[in-house]
Amino acid sequence: MEFLLVIVASYLIGSIPNGLIIGQTFYKTDLRQFGSKNIGATNAYRTLGPGPAFWVFLSDALKGVVGVLIGQYIGGSALAEVAGGIGAIAGHNWSVFLKFKGGRGVATGLGVVAMLSPKVTLIVFIIWAFIVYFTRYVSLASIVAAAFVPITMWILNARQEFYYFGMLAALFVIARHRPNIERLLAGTEAKIKAGGKPET
Ligand code: G3P
Repeated sequence: MEFLLVIVASYLIGSIPNGLIIGQTFYKTDLRQFGSKNIGATNAYRTLGPGPAFWVFLSDALKGVVGVLIGQYIGGSALAEVAGGIGAIAGHNWSVFLKFKGGRGVATGLGVVAMLSPKVTLIVFIIWAFIVYFTRYVSLASIVAAAFVPITMWILNARQEFYYFGMLAALFVIARHRPNIERLLAGTEAKIKAGGKPET
């Protein structure tokens, strides 16, 4: 029963579409109409600029942090923490408020990983930053970084629950990058550049 409560509560928190709310409330912009049409920080960056992107990133990451905290306080076990984290990512990716559409789960996932393992967070962030710097494809960086979460959990000998979390979270994140993968393969994915405007 407690476990179910953790999943439902974290799913509802994760479902809050921060990018959409910030875009519509402060910039009269529906992110779903511009750029990649995603509601995440990357599309906020290319559509609205670095400032709004920062707030979208922070508020989305916070949902992951809260998901794990819900697991900690209601469930009180590593498995409950993981369930809270997964609930938050699932809510972000398939939001109950957006007819089960949503974001890619990267920032929210990072918030969860930051709570579970700061070391893994640092390593996958470095991998992500490295790929963004050299390729300018944020989506490619996110996909590779997501895949490295379970791999790094395993290398660092993290708890088994966290390792399985990493596998499921990577699956959730990569599944939602399907349009990006198609564009990457077709050579039409937009590169990111300083200032927020995409290269064509
Ligand atoms: O974090 C999301 C990023 O990996 C891709 O975003 O807007 O280019 O689809 P976007």
